[in-house]
Amino acid sequence: MKEFVINENYLIILEGYLDPTTLCQVGGRQSPKAHPKRKGKEILQTQPTRITGEKRFDLENWDSIIDQARQSLSAKKYALLPAVIPLLPRQSLKKYYQSLFHNGFAALSPEKEGKGSLSCSNEEIAIFIQNAIMNIVNRITGMKLQPLYVFTRRYLEHSYLPKHMDNKNHLFVISMLLDYFPEPDGPSPWPIHFEVDGKKTTLHQYLGDWVIYRGMELIHFRDPLPENHVSTSLFFVFNQGG
Ligand SMILES: [Fe+2]
Repeated sequence: MKEFVINENYLIILEGYLDPTTLCQVGGRQSPKAHPKRKGKEILQTQPTRITGEKRFDLENWDSIIDQARQSLSAKKYALLPAVIPLLPRQSLKKYYQSLFHNGFAALSPEKEGKGSLSCSNEEIAIFIQNAIMNIVNRITGMKLQPLYVFTRRYLEHSYLPKHMDNKNHLFVISMLLDYFPEPDGPSPWPIHFEVDGKKTTLHQYLGDWVIYRGMELIHFRDPLPENHVSTSLFFVFNQGG
C-alpha cells in the first residue's frame, strides 16, 4: 500500500477513535480522551465496502493527481485535490464534528480571519489525521514539513474571510471541506478566492476536497456565507521541518 491516507490500518484506527463523546479542549473545558469504541476487526466485518461509492476519489490515478497538485502548487501557490478522504470515513468525521459543535466544544473564533465562525484547535482526531497525511503533503510540496497546528472551523451564516495572508510559519495550509448545509449536489456554493499575480481565482470544493496553498504568500478570502448555510472545514497548518 502506498503512503496514502486511507490505508487500511489508518481507517481501522480512525473509525475506532470516532466516538462522538470524545471531544476537544476548548475554553478551559476538560478534554475527554479519545478512545477506541470498537475493535478494528468488527469494523472490517460490518463495513466491508467502506471505501467504495466515492465518485471523485481515484486511487488508480493517484500518482498523476499528486503530480498535478505539485505543478499547480509550484506555479500558482495553490492546488486542489479531489476527495482525499473518501466517503465513509468522511461521514464518520462529519458526525463526530457535528456532535462536537452541538455539544459546545468550540468557541467563537477570536480572529478576524473567520469572523462569525466557531473554532476548535488541536483536537485529537484532527491531529491524528494531520500526522497521517504528512507523507502526502511532503510529496506534493517536495519539502520535508512538520505539522504546526490544526483547527476545525464551522462557518455560520454571514461569516466570511476577509482578504488576508496568513501569519508567520504558515508555510502551507490545507483546507478540507468536511460538511456543508444544505448538502450540495455538486460543489459547494461557497468558494474560496485567491489572488494570483493580482488576478482573482475562484475555487469551489466538493465535500472532501482539499485546497493546499502557501498561506503566507497568497492572498485568500471568502465572501459572506449565505443565510441558513453552514460550512465546516478542517485546516492543517504546516511549517518547515527541522
Ligand atoms: Fe488564512
